[in-house]
Amino acid sequence: MLKEVNYKDLKFNPFNLIGGEWMLASAGNEKDGCNTMTVSWGGLGCLWGHNDPVATIYLRPSRYTKTFVDKEEFFTLCVMDKSFKKQMAYLGSVSGRDEDKIKKAGLEPVFADGTVYFSQVKLVLVCRKMYAQELQEKDFFYPKTIEESYPQRDFHTMYIGKIEKVLVRDDEYLK
Ligand SMILES: Cc1cc2nc3c(=O)[nH]c(=O)nc-3n(C[C@H](O)[C@H](O)[C@H](O)COP(=O)(O)O)c2cc1C
Repeated sequence: MLKEVNYKDLKFNPFNLIGGEWMLASAGNEKDGCNTMTVSWGGLGCLWGHNDPVATIYLRPSRYTKTFVDKEEFFTLCVMDKSFKKQMAYLGSVSGRDEDKIKKAGLEPVFADGTVYFSQVKLVLVCRKMYAQELQEKDFFYPKTIEESYPQRDFHTMYIGKIEKVLVRDDEYLK
């Protein structure tokens, strides 16, 4: 059973959570469909408003999930149990254009709050899309970053979402 909590009561190390446990970035709705992909690049912090809580993700142009994030008002970030690591590696290597990944990974979509997440999640951040911008080659300070991460010049689009709802399964991420 998921319960809504205040983002101020969350307790975890964002570096380990995003970079280590990974997250699923998802968008879509029941009528037009949805998609999900694994992300491990991103950030959590405060921006605009009254130190509003925000999540930032970075999607390459080729990602099918990007087409959903681009047309939807919301996206979600889901943290899954460690037992889903194999499915997350799969969701992060195969495109939803080619396979019904969600079904094959055994995930059950939940369509709520104008977006989609999965019944098996441990933690969900429901994010309202606030800003999107493609990273620009001219704005990198070190050519090495481009050589290493963008040899094909397929620069990520950065999405900043205001975290409007936080759902947790148990107290693991609460202080
Ligand atoms: C651990 C891991 C982390 C990833 N992080 C990102 C990321 O932050 N941004 C991104 O664009 N792709 C990332 N990917 C790659 C996408 O998840 C992958 O290309 C996926 O198949 C895209 O699916 P889609 O075409 O159905 O959207 C990651 C993959 C893995 C395995």
